[in-house]
Amino acid sequence: MKSFSKSVCFLVLGWVISLSALAQTVVRGPYLQMQTDDGISIHWRTDTATDSVVRYGTSPGALTSSETVGGLRTDHEVSLTGLGNGQQFWYSVGDSVGTLAGDSSFHFHTAPASGSAADTRIWVIGDSGTANADARAVRDAYKAWAASDPADFWIMLGDNAYNDGTDAEYQAAVFDTYPEILRQLPLWSTLGNHDGHSADSATQTGPYYDIFNLPRAAEVGGLASGTEAYYSFDYANIHFVCLDSYETSRSPTGSMLQWLEADLASNTQPWVIAFWHHPPYTKGSHDSDTEGRLIDMRQNALPILEAWGVDLVLSGHSHSYERSYLLDGHYGSSPTLDPVLNVLDPGDGRDTGDGAYEKPDGIAPQNAGAVYAVAGSSGKLSGGSLNHPAMFVSLNSLGSMVLDVAGNRLDATFLDEAGAVRDTFTILKTPDFEPPVITGATAPDATHVVVSFDEALDAVGATDPANYTIAGLTVSAAELLAGDRDVRLTSSAMTSGSSYTLVVN
Ligand SMILES: [Fe+2]
Repeated sequence: MKSFSKSVCFLVLGWVISLSALAQTVVRGPYLQMQTDDGISIHWRTDTATDSVVRYGTSPGALTSSETVGGLRTDHEVSLTGLGNGQQFWYSVGDSVGTLAGDSSFHFHTAPASGSAADTRIWVIGDSGTANADARAVRDAYKAWAASDPADFWIMLGDNAYNDGTDAEYQAAVFDTYPEILRQLPLWSTLGNHDGHSADSATQTGPYYDIFNLPRAAEVGGLASGTEAYYSFDYANIHFVCLDSYETSRSPTGSMLQWLEADLASNTQPWVIAFWHHPPYTKGSHDSDTEGRLIDMRQNALPILEAWGVDLVLSGHSHSYERSYLLDGHYGSSPTLDPVLNVLDPGDGRDTGDGAYEKPDGIAPQNAGAVYAVAGSSGKLSGGSLNHPAMFVSLNSLGSMVLDVAGNRLDATFLDEAGAVRDTFTILKTPDFEPPVITGATAPDATHVVVSFDEALDAVGATDPANYTIAGLTVSAAELLAGDRDVRLTSSAMTSGSSYTLVVN
Protein backbone atom coordinates (compact mmCIF):
# COMPACT_ATOMS: atom_id res chain seq x y z
CA MET A 1 0.00 0.00 0.00
CA LYS A 2 2.76 2.34 0.94
CA SER A 3 4.70 1.76 -2.25
CA PHE A 4 1.58 2.21 -4.43
CA SER A 5 1.03 5.70 -2.93
CA LYS A 6 4.61 6.73 -3.70
CA SER A 7 4.29 5.69 -7.28
CA VAL A 8 1.07 7.74 -7.79
CA CYS A 9 2.75 10.81 -6.30
CA PHE A 10 5.67 10.45 -8.68
CA LEU A 11 3.44 10.15 -11.75
CA VAL A 12 1.40 13.24 -10.85
CA LEU A 13 4.54 15.28 -10.28
CA GLY A 14 5.97 14.22 -13.63
CA TRP A 15 2.79 15.30 -15.44
CA VAL A 16 2.79 18.76 -13.83
CA ILE A 17 6.43 19.34 -14.78
CA SER A 18 5.85 18.44 -18.40
CA LEU A 19 2.87 20.85 -18.64
CA SER A 20 4.99 23.61 -17.18
CA ALA A 21 7.77 22.98 -19.72
CA LEU A 22 5.27 23.27 -22.59
CA ALA A 23 3.67 26.48 -21.33
CA GLN A 24 4.16 29.87 -22.91
CA THR A 25 6.21 28.90 -25.91
CA VAL A 26 6.13 30.95 -29.12
CA VAL A 27 5.07 28.42 -31.75
CA ARG A 28 4.53 30.84 -34.67
CA GLY A 29 6.45 33.94 -35.65
CA PRO A 30 6.79 36.66 -34.73
CA TYR A 31 5.94 38.08 -38.13
CA LEU A 32 5.53 41.66 -39.33
CA GLN A 33 2.51 43.23 -40.98
CA MET A 34 1.18 46.68 -41.93
CA GLN A 35 4.49 48.53 -42.14
CA THR A 36 3.69 52.26 -42.31
CA ASP A 37 5.85 55.37 -42.21
CA ASP A 38 5.05 55.59 -38.51
CA GLY A 39 4.57 52.08 -37.20
CA ILE A 40 4.19 48.34 -37.63
CA SER A 41 2.05 45.42 -36.51
CA ILE A 42 3.74 42.43 -34.83
CA HIS A 43 2.02 39.02 -34.69
CA TRP A 44 2.87 35.71 -33.01
CA ARG A 45 1.26 32.58 -31.58
CA THR A 46 1.84 30.95 -28.20
CA ASP A 47 0.92 27.42 -27.21
CA THR A 48 -1.00 28.63 -24.17
CA ALA A 49 -3.00 31.82 -23.73
CA THR A 50 -1.11 34.83 -22.39
CA ASP A 51 -1.42 38.58 -22.58
CA SER A 52 0.60 40.28 -25.36
CA VAL A 53 3.69 42.43 -24.82
CA VAL A 54 6.18 43.80 -27.35
CA ARG A 55 9.33 45.32 -25.86
CA TYR A 56 11.33 47.49 -28.28
CA GLY A 57 14.11 50.04 -28.59
CA THR A 58 16.66 51.54 -30.93
CA SER A 59 19.45 49.13 -30.02
CA PRO A 60 19.31 45.38 -29.43
CA GLY A 61 20.49 45.62 -25.84
CA ALA A 62 18.05 48.33 -24.75
CA LEU A 63 14.40 47.45 -25.36
CA THR A 64 13.30 50.35 -23.20
CA SER A 65 9.79 50.84 -24.56
CA SER A 66 6.88 48.44 -24.50
CA GLU A 67 3.34 48.02 -25.74
CA THR A 68 0.86 45.73 -23.98
CA VAL A 69 -2.45 44.30 -25.10
CA GLY A 70 -4.31 42.88 -22.15
CA GLY A 71 -6.41 39.72 -22.10
CA LEU A 72 -5.38 36.12 -22.65
CA ARG A 73 -5.02 34.70 -26.16
CA THR A 74 -2.80 32.43 -28.26
CA ASP A 75 -2.82 34.52 -31.47
CA HIS A 76 -1.22 37.84 -30.60
CA GLU A 77 -1.27 41.15 -32.47
CA VAL A 78 0.40 44.30 -31.17
CA SER A 79 0.47 47.50 -33.24
CA LEU A 80 3.17 50.07 -32.62
CA THR A 81 2.56 53.66 -33.75
CA GLY A 82 4.25 57.02 -33.41
CA LEU A 83 7.68 55.60 -34.26
CA GLY A 84 8.64 58.14 -36.94
CA ASN A 85 9.63 57.35 -40.51
CA GLY A 86 12.67 55.36 -41.63
CA GLN A 87 13.57 54.30 -38.07
CA GLN A 88 15.24 50.99 -37.11
CA PHE A 89 14.10 49.11 -34.01
CA TRP A 90 14.90 45.87 -32.21
CA TYR A 91 12.14 44.04 -30.35
CA SER A 92 11.05 40.99 -28.42
CA VAL A 93 7.66 39.36 -27.89
CA GLY A 94 6.28 37.95 -24.68
CA ASP A 95 3.80 38.54 -21.91
CA SER A 96 3.69 40.72 -18.82
CA VAL A 97 5.80 38.16 -16.94
CA GLY A 98 8.71 38.30 -19.35
CA THR A 99 10.19 37.81 -22.80
CA LEU A 100 9.32 34.65 -24.71
CA ALA A 101 11.30 35.28 -27.92
CA GLY A 102 13.78 37.95 -28.97
CA ASP A 103 17.46 38.38 -29.80
CA SER A 104 19.53 40.62 -32.07
CA SER A 105 17.91 39.07 -35.15
CA PHE A 106 14.52 40.48 -34.13
CA HIS A 107 14.39 43.87 -35.84
CA PHE A 108 12.31 45.99 -38.20
CA HIS A 109 12.25 49.47 -39.68
CA THR A 110 9.41 51.85 -40.38
CA ALA A 111 8.80 52.96 -43.97
CA PRO A 112 10.37 56.13 -45.32
CA ALA A 113 8.18 59.22 -45.54
CA SER A 114 5.45 58.67 -48.08
CA GLY A 115 6.44 60.20 -51.41
CA SER A 116 10.16 60.30 -50.65
CA ALA A 117 12.57 58.83 -53.19
CA ALA A 118 14.25 56.49 -50.71
CA ASP A 119 15.99 53.42 -52.14
CA THR A 120 13.63 50.48 -51.79
CA ARG A 121 14.30 46.74 -52.17
CA ILE A 122 11.46 44.23 -52.40
CA TRP A 123 11.69 40.42 -52.43
CA VAL A 124 8.95 38.74 -54.48
CA ILE A 125 8.06 35.04 -54.36
CA GLY A 126 5.19 33.18 -56.00
CA ASP A 127 3.61 29.76 -55.52
CA SER A 128 6.15 29.14 -52.81
CA GLY A 129 3.95 26.99 -50.59
CA THR A 130 5.52 23.55 -51.05
CA ALA A 131 7.44 23.49 -47.74
CA ASN A 132 10.07 21.47 -49.57
CA ALA A 133 13.75 21.65 -50.53
CA ASP A 134 12.97 23.69 -53.67
CA ALA A 135 11.33 26.45 -51.60
CA ARG A 136 14.24 26.39 -49.15
CA ALA A 137 16.80 26.61 -51.97
CA VAL A 138 15.05 29.68 -53.44
CA ARG A 139 14.96 31.22 -49.95
CA ASP A 140 18.63 30.54 -49.29
CA ALA A 141 19.69 31.89 -52.69
CA TYR A 142 17.95 35.18 -51.93
CA LYS A 143 19.40 35.34 -48.41
CA ALA A 144 22.93 34.82 -49.70
CA TRP A 145 22.57 37.22 -52.64
CA ALA A 146 21.02 39.98 -50.50
CA ALA A 147 22.98 39.31 -47.30
CA SER A 148 24.60 42.74 -47.23
CA ASP A 149 21.55 44.58 -48.56
CA PRO A 150 18.35 42.83 -47.51
CA ALA A 151 14.91 43.78 -48.76
CA ASP A 152 12.72 46.35 -47.01
CA PHE A 153 9.68 44.07 -47.29
CA TRP A 154 8.45 41.07 -49.27
CA ILE A 155 5.46 40.00 -51.30
CA MET A 156 3.88 36.56 -51.73
CA LEU A 157 1.99 36.17 -55.01
CA GLY A 158 -0.42 33.50 -53.74
CA ASP A 159 -0.51 29.73 -53.37
CA ASN A 160 1.54 30.34 -50.25
CA ALA A 161 0.64 27.01 -48.61
CA TYR A 162 -0.22 23.85 -50.55
CA ASN A 163 -2.55 22.17 -51.00
CA ASP A 164 -5.45 23.94 -49.34
CA GLY A 165 -4.05 26.90 -47.41
CA THR A 166 -4.94 25.38 -44.05
CA ASP A 167 -3.47 26.69 -40.83
CA ALA A 168 -1.23 23.61 -40.52
CA GLU A 169 -0.07 24.03 -44.13
CA TYR A 170 0.71 27.71 -43.47
CA GLN A 171 2.72 26.61 -40.44
CA ALA A 172 4.88 24.33 -42.58
CA ALA A 173 5.12 26.34 -45.80
CA VAL A 174 5.37 29.86 -44.39
CA PHE A 175 6.16 30.02 -40.67
CA ASP A 176 8.56 27.06 -40.48
CA THR A 177 10.15 27.85 -43.85
CA TYR A 178 10.94 31.58 -43.48
CA PRO A 179 11.25 32.21 -39.69
CA GLU A 180 14.09 34.72 -39.81
CA ILE A 181 12.75 36.66 -42.81
CA LEU A 182 9.31 36.84 -41.20
CA ARG A 183 10.66 38.44 -38.05
CA GLN A 184 12.61 41.08 -40.02
CA LEU A 185 10.66 41.94 -43.18
CA PRO A 186 6.99 42.96 -43.33
CA LEU A 187 5.03 40.58 -45.56
CA TRP A 188 2.28 41.43 -48.06
CA SER A 189 0.23 38.85 -49.90
CA THR A 190 -2.42 38.23 -52.52
CA LEU A 191 -4.86 35.31 -52.49
CA GLY A 192 -4.02 32.28 -54.65
CA ASN A 193 -6.43 29.55 -55.67
CA HIS A 194 -4.93 27.09 -53.18
CA ASP A 195 -5.21 29.66 -50.36
CA GLY A 196 -8.79 30.14 -51.50
CA HIS A 197 -9.66 26.47 -50.94
CA SER A 198 -9.95 27.26 -47.24
CA ALA A 199 -10.62 31.01 -47.31
CA ASP A 200 -13.61 33.09 -48.37
CA SER A 201 -13.03 36.57 -49.76
CA ALA A 202 -16.65 37.68 -49.45
CA THR A 203 -16.63 37.19 -45.69
CA GLN A 204 -12.83 37.53 -45.26
CA THR A 205 -12.71 34.33 -43.24
CA GLY A 206 -10.44 31.29 -43.22
CA PRO A 207 -6.75 30.81 -42.43
CA TYR A 208 -5.51 33.26 -45.11
CA TYR A 209 -7.58 36.11 -43.67
CA ASP A 210 -6.83 35.07 -40.09
CA ILE A 211 -3.08 35.09 -40.68
CA PHE A 212 -2.69 38.21 -42.79
CA ASN A 213 -3.43 41.69 -41.47
CA LEU A 214 -3.98 43.76 -44.63
CA PRO A 215 -5.33 47.28 -45.19
CA ARG A 216 -9.08 47.82 -45.57
CA ALA A 217 -9.25 51.48 -44.63
CA ALA A 218 -6.22 53.06 -46.35
CA GLU A 219 -4.11 52.47 -43.23
CA VAL A 220 -0.95 52.49 -45.38
CA GLY A 221 -2.02 55.07 -47.99
CA GLY A 222 -4.08 54.61 -51.13
CA LEU A 223 -7.86 54.55 -51.22
CA ALA A 224 -9.84 52.46 -48.73
CA SER A 225 -11.11 49.26 -50.34
CA GLY A 226 -13.20 48.10 -47.38
CA THR A 227 -11.75 44.58 -47.71
CA GLU A 228 -8.50 42.72 -47.21
CA ALA A 229 -9.18 40.77 -50.42
CA TYR A 230 -7.93 43.71 -52.51
CA TYR A 231 -6.16 46.81 -51.30
CA SER A 232 -3.44 49.34 -52.01
CA PHE A 233 -0.57 50.77 -50.03
CA ASP A 234 2.26 53.26 -50.49
CA TYR A 235 5.93 52.78 -49.70
CA ALA A 236 8.27 55.74 -50.38
CA ASN A 237 7.41 56.87 -53.94
CA ILE A 238 5.71 53.60 -54.98
CA HIS A 239 1.99 52.85 -55.03
CA PHE A 240 1.21 49.11 -54.73
CA VAL A 241 -2.11 47.61 -55.77
CA CYS A 242 -3.13 44.07 -54.79
CA LEU A 243 -6.12 42.46 -56.54
CA ASP A 244 -7.98 39.21 -55.84
CA SER A 245 -8.10 37.28 -59.11
CA TYR A 246 -9.64 34.15 -57.58
CA GLU A 247 -12.75 34.81 -55.51
CA THR A 248 -13.82 38.42 -56.07
CA SER A 249 -15.77 39.60 -59.13
CA ARG A 250 -13.44 40.54 -61.99
CA SER A 251 -16.23 42.36 -63.84
CA PRO A 252 -15.60 45.95 -64.96
CA THR A 253 -18.75 46.90 -63.04
CA GLY A 254 -17.79 44.89 -59.93
CA SER A 255 -16.69 46.58 -56.74
CA MET A 256 -13.03 45.58 -57.12
CA LEU A 257 -12.39 47.15 -60.52
CA GLN A 258 -14.56 50.17 -59.68
CA TRP A 259 -12.39 50.67 -56.61
CA LEU A 260 -9.23 50.10 -58.71
CA GLU A 261 -10.07 52.98 -61.03
CA ALA A 262 -10.88 55.32 -58.13
CA ASP A 263 -7.74 54.26 -56.26
CA LEU A 264 -5.48 54.90 -59.24
CA ALA A 265 -7.19 58.20 -60.03
CA SER A 266 -6.30 59.41 -56.53
CA ASN A 267 -2.72 58.08 -56.58
CA THR A 268 0.04 60.65 -56.10
CA GLN A 269 3.11 58.36 -56.36
CA PRO A 270 5.18 58.18 -59.57
CA TRP A 271 5.64 54.39 -59.49
CA VAL A 272 2.73 51.95 -59.71
CA ILE A 273 3.26 48.21 -59.13
CA ALA A 274 0.27 45.86 -59.24
CA PHE A 275 0.12 42.21 -58.18
CA TRP A 276 -2.35 39.34 -58.16
CA HIS A 277 -2.20 35.57 -58.60
CA HIS A 278 -3.58 34.71 -62.09
CA PRO A 279 -1.29 36.11 -64.83
CA PRO A 280 -2.71 38.06 -67.78
CA TYR A 281 -0.01 36.64 -70.07
CA THR A 282 1.45 33.14 -69.62
CA LYS A 283 2.29 29.98 -71.50
CA GLY A 284 3.64 28.14 -68.49
CA SER A 285 1.72 25.55 -66.51
CA HIS A 286 -1.33 27.70 -67.22
CA ASP A 287 -2.47 29.25 -70.51
CA SER A 288 -3.74 32.84 -70.58
CA ASP A 289 -5.47 32.19 -73.92
CA THR A 290 -7.90 29.62 -72.51
CA GLU A 291 -8.40 30.14 -68.75
CA GLY A 292 -11.20 32.41 -67.60
CA ARG A 293 -9.64 34.19 -64.64
CA LEU A 294 -6.51 34.99 -66.63
CA ILE A 295 -8.58 36.30 -69.55
CA ASP A 296 -10.80 38.36 -67.22
CA MET A 297 -7.85 40.04 -65.56
CA ARG A 298 -6.26 40.83 -68.93
CA GLN A 299 -9.44 42.17 -70.51
CA ASN A 300 -10.85 44.03 -67.52
CA ALA A 301 -8.05 45.06 -65.16
CA LEU A 302 -5.26 45.85 -67.62
CA PRO A 303 -7.04 48.70 -69.50
CA ILE A 304 -7.63 50.50 -66.17
CA LEU A 305 -4.11 49.92 -64.91
CA GLU A 306 -2.47 51.01 -68.18
CA ALA A 307 -4.64 54.12 -68.47
CA TRP A 308 -3.39 55.12 -65.03
CA GLY A 309 0.29 54.51 -65.68
CA VAL A 310 1.06 51.07 -64.19
CA ASP A 311 4.77 50.26 -64.49
CA LEU A 312 5.03 46.62 -63.43
CA VAL A 313 2.52 43.79 -62.95
CA LEU A 314 3.51 40.70 -60.92
CA SER A 315 1.66 37.37 -60.93
CA GLY A 316 2.25 33.69 -60.18
CA HIS A 317 0.07 30.59 -60.78
CA SER A 318 2.27 29.29 -63.62
CA HIS A 319 5.28 27.65 -62.00
CA SER A 320 7.84 29.36 -64.23
CA TYR A 321 9.45 32.75 -64.77
CA GLU A 322 8.12 34.74 -67.72
CA ARG A 323 8.92 38.43 -68.30
CA SER A 324 7.51 40.65 -71.03
CA TYR A 325 8.78 43.45 -73.21
CA LEU A 326 7.48 46.97 -72.47
CA LEU A 327 3.83 46.48 -73.49
CA ASP A 328 0.64 48.47 -73.88
CA GLY A 329 -2.89 47.78 -75.01
CA HIS A 330 -2.74 44.02 -75.56
CA TYR A 331 -6.01 42.61 -74.24
CA GLY A 332 -6.66 39.77 -76.67
CA SER A 333 -5.25 36.26 -76.99
CA SER A 334 -1.58 35.73 -77.76
CA PRO A 335 -1.93 35.49 -81.60
CA THR A 336 -3.43 39.00 -81.64
CA LEU A 337 -0.31 40.62 -80.12
CA ASP A 338 0.64 43.39 -82.55
CA PRO A 339 4.41 43.92 -82.41
CA VAL A 340 4.03 47.50 -83.65
CA LEU A 341 1.05 48.65 -81.59
CA ASN A 342 1.50 46.62 -78.39
CA VAL A 343 5.28 46.30 -77.98
CA LEU A 344 6.44 49.80 -77.08
CA ASP A 345 10.06 48.67 -76.70
CA PRO A 346 11.11 45.37 -78.30
CA GLY A 347 14.53 45.38 -76.59
CA ASP A 348 15.82 43.52 -73.56
CA GLY A 349 15.41 46.49 -71.20
CA ARG A 350 19.01 46.28 -70.02
CA ASP A 351 21.64 49.00 -69.73
CA THR A 352 24.19 46.48 -70.95
CA GLY A 353 22.07 45.53 -73.97
CA ASP A 354 19.38 47.44 -75.85
CA GLY A 355 18.98 50.00 -73.08
CA ALA A 356 16.49 50.46 -70.25
CA TYR A 357 12.78 50.70 -70.95
CA GLU A 358 12.03 54.41 -70.84
CA LYS A 359 8.82 56.07 -69.73
CA PRO A 360 7.98 59.73 -69.12
CA ASP A 361 8.31 60.81 -65.50
CA GLY A 362 5.46 62.31 -63.50
CA ILE A 363 2.30 60.81 -62.05
CA ALA A 364 0.35 58.23 -64.07
CA PRO A 365 1.57 58.80 -67.63
CA GLN A 366 -1.22 57.28 -69.69
CA ASN A 367 -0.52 54.06 -71.63
CA ALA A 368 3.23 54.60 -71.53
CA GLY A 369 4.07 50.91 -71.17
CA ALA A 370 4.34 48.25 -68.47
CA VAL A 371 6.36 45.09 -67.88
CA TYR A 372 4.46 41.92 -66.94
CA ALA A 373 6.26 39.24 -64.94
CA VAL A 374 5.15 35.76 -63.88
CA ALA A 375 7.18 34.69 -60.86
CA GLY A 376 5.48 31.48 -59.77
CA SER A 377 8.51 29.22 -59.48
CA SER A 378 9.51 29.86 -55.86
CA GLY A 379 8.38 26.42 -54.69
CA LYS A 380 8.20 24.11 -57.68
CA LEU A 381 8.43 23.85 -61.47
CA SER A 382 5.65 22.69 -63.78
CA GLY A 383 6.92 23.41 -67.30
CA GLY A 384 4.69 24.52 -70.17
CA SER A 385 5.30 25.64 -73.74
CA LEU A 386 6.80 28.89 -72.41
CA ASN A 387 6.36 30.64 -75.74
CA HIS A 388 4.02 33.57 -75.12
CA PRO A 389 4.97 36.20 -77.73
CA ALA A 390 4.63 39.03 -75.18
CA MET A 391 7.57 37.60 -73.23
CA PHE A 392 11.18 38.61 -73.73
CA VAL A 393 12.27 35.68 -71.58
CA SER A 394 10.53 32.49 -70.40
CA LEU A 395 12.38 30.14 -68.05
CA ASN A 396 11.49 26.79 -66.55
CA SER A 397 13.62 27.68 -63.55
CA LEU A 398 13.11 27.88 -59.81
CA GLY A 399 13.71 31.31 -58.34
CA SER A 400 12.45 34.64 -57.01
CA MET A 401 12.53 38.30 -57.97
CA VAL A 402 14.26 41.23 -56.33
CA LEU A 403 13.03 44.74 -57.18
CA ASP A 404 15.12 47.83 -56.52
CA VAL A 405 13.46 51.22 -56.87
CA ALA A 406 15.70 54.27 -56.54
CA GLY A 407 14.25 57.63 -57.53
CA ASN A 408 13.32 57.45 -61.21
CA ARG A 409 14.82 53.98 -61.76
CA LEU A 410 13.45 50.47 -61.20
CA ASP A 411 15.78 47.48 -61.52
CA ALA A 412 14.38 43.95 -61.46
CA THR A 413 16.40 40.75 -61.02
CA PHE A 414 15.34 37.12 -61.34
CA LEU A 415 17.55 35.01 -59.12
CA ASP A 416 17.47 31.23 -59.51
CA GLU A 417 17.71 28.65 -56.72
CA ALA A 418 21.48 28.38 -57.16
CA GLY A 419 21.96 32.12 -56.77
CA ALA A 420 22.55 32.85 -60.45
CA VAL A 421 21.04 36.01 -61.98
CA ARG A 422 18.98 34.72 -64.90
CA ASP A 423 17.23 37.94 -65.97
CA THR A 424 17.42 41.66 -65.33
CA PHE A 425 15.55 44.65 -66.69
CA THR A 426 15.31 48.35 -65.92
CA ILE A 427 12.51 50.87 -66.23
CA LEU A 428 13.72 54.46 -66.32
CA LYS A 429 11.46 57.48 -65.89
CA THR A 430 12.85 60.33 -67.96
CA PRO A 431 11.66 63.92 -68.39
CA ASP A 432 9.35 64.24 -71.38
CA PHE A 433 11.03 66.87 -73.56
CA GLU A 434 9.17 65.98 -76.76
CA PRO A 435 6.26 68.33 -77.40
CA PRO A 436 2.85 66.83 -78.19
CA VAL A 437 2.16 66.42 -81.91
CA ILE A 438 -1.16 67.50 -83.46
CA THR A 439 -2.86 64.47 -85.02
CA GLY A 440 -6.02 66.18 -86.27
CA ALA A 441 -8.39 69.18 -86.05
CA THR A 442 -12.10 69.45 -86.81
CA ALA A 443 -14.64 72.29 -86.59
CA PRO A 444 -17.96 70.95 -85.24
CA ASP A 445 -19.51 74.41 -85.70
CA ALA A 446 -18.54 77.93 -86.74
CA THR A 447 -17.00 78.92 -83.39
CA HIS A 448 -15.34 75.72 -82.14
CA VAL A 449 -12.33 73.64 -83.16
CA VAL A 450 -11.42 70.28 -81.58
CA VAL A 451 -7.68 69.66 -81.76
CA SER A 452 -6.28 66.16 -81.12
CA PHE A 453 -2.77 65.37 -79.87
CA ASP A 454 -0.69 62.18 -79.76
CA GLU A 455 -0.20 62.18 -75.98
CA ALA A 456 -1.84 63.33 -72.79
CA LEU A 457 -1.50 67.07 -72.23
CA ASP A 458 -0.59 69.11 -69.20
CA ALA A 459 -3.82 70.84 -68.11
CA VAL A 460 -2.26 74.20 -67.29
CA GLY A 461 -0.67 74.67 -70.73
CA ALA A 462 -3.47 73.01 -72.66
CA THR A 463 -6.21 75.28 -71.28
CA ASP A 464 -4.40 78.58 -71.84
CA PRO A 465 -5.97 80.15 -75.00
CA ALA A 466 -2.81 82.22 -75.52
CA ASN A 467 -1.05 79.00 -76.57
CA TYR A 468 -3.23 78.69 -79.69
CA THR A 469 -3.05 80.98 -82.74
CA ILE A 470 -5.41 80.76 -85.74
CA ALA A 471 -4.60 83.37 -88.40
CA GLY A 472 -7.61 85.66 -88.93
CA LEU A 473 -9.45 84.46 -85.80
CA THR A 474 -9.42 85.15 -82.09
CA VAL A 475 -9.15 82.14 -79.73
CA SER A 476 -10.99 83.01 -76.52
CA ALA A 477 -11.10 79.70 -74.61
CA ALA A 478 -9.45 76.26 -74.53
CA GLU A 479 -11.02 73.27 -72.75
CA LEU A 480 -9.22 69.97 -72.13
CA LEU A 481 -11.58 67.10 -72.94
CA ALA A 482 -11.84 63.70 -71.22
CA GLY A 483 -8.75 61.58 -71.75
CA ASP A 484 -6.52 64.70 -71.78
CA ARG A 485 -5.59 64.32 -75.46
CA ASP A 486 -8.20 66.59 -77.09
CA VAL A 487 -8.74 70.33 -76.68
CA ARG A 488 -11.86 72.24 -77.71
CA LEU A 489 -11.10 75.82 -78.72
CA THR A 490 -13.67 78.60 -78.82
CA SER A 491 -12.93 81.07 -81.60
CA SER A 492 -14.43 84.03 -83.37
CA ALA A 493 -16.72 83.00 -86.24
CA MET A 494 -15.15 81.01 -89.06
CA THR A 495 -16.24 81.31 -92.68
CA SER A 496 -17.72 78.18 -94.18
CA GLY A 497 -15.51 76.56 -96.82
CA SER A 498 -12.36 78.41 -95.75
CA SER A 499 -9.18 76.75 -94.49
CA TYR A 500 -7.33 78.01 -91.45
CA THR A 501 -3.86 77.39 -90.06
CA LEU A 502 -3.49 76.53 -86.38
CA VAL A 503 -0.23 77.09 -84.53
CA VAL A 504 0.25 75.69 -81.01
CA ASN A 505 3.00 77.08 -78.81
FE1 LIG B 1 -2.28 28.97 -58.53
